[in-house]
Amino acid sequence: PDPRIEAIKARIQDFPDFPKPGILFRDIFPLFQHPSLCHDVVNVFYEHFVSKYPSTKVDAVLGLDARGFLFAPLLAEKFRANFVAVRKKGKLPGKVVSCDYTLEYGSAEVEIQNHAVSDGQNVIIVDDLLATGGTMNAACLLAKKLKLNIIQCQCVIALTGLNGEKKLPAGIDFYSIVQYE
Ligand code: PRP
Ligand code: HPA
Repeated sequence: PDPRIEAIKARIQDFPDFPKPGILFRDIFPLFQHPSLCHDVVNVFYEHFVSKYPSTKVDAVLGLDARGFLFAPLLAEKFRANFVAVRKKGKLPGKVVSCDYTLEYGSAEVEIQNHAVSDGQNVIIVDDLLATGGTMNAACLLAKKLKLNIIQCQCVIALTGLNGEKKLPAGIDFYSIVQYE
């Protein structure tokens, strides 16, 4: 057992009935009141990746709007790689590619700037949490549209009872630090 992972898990705070009745919300923001824990999150992501793919060069870390942005730039810096934002529709200027996805109610769209990436780059996709997997799946489809090579998707938390991993494209490698049923 990694004591860093125990410490990370201990700081994730549960909020029943947020944002709606029946939802148990797992909040990662308390980690940021302990700056060394944010550091630990990024180091755990990094070490997991490097031990599994010791000779793979990472060209870019894609972070998902909004809470993926808290971790992806730090991780990118460790790899000496680019950080690329995957944003919700209408936020990024210039030429973008889009992918729509369905949420519990209705739908949403995510976008990447074409000029931020190039064909065949090795990428990691990062977010705070995997729930139904819709958001991460949309990011994977965007990356595939742009012919990026997705080596791994990483989240701080996976809500395993929602089977989000199964929604990701076949063959995608997914890693989470903390799991809740
Ligand atoms: C949350 C979370 C993930 C996504 C996971 O973001 O940060 O990005 O939902 O859910 P899924 O696996 O069911 O797609 P949210 O959409 O609440 O938006 P925010 O980042 O703007 O808070
Ligand atoms: N926490 C944070 N974001 C989320 C959650 C959660 O429990 N469920 C879906 N998105």
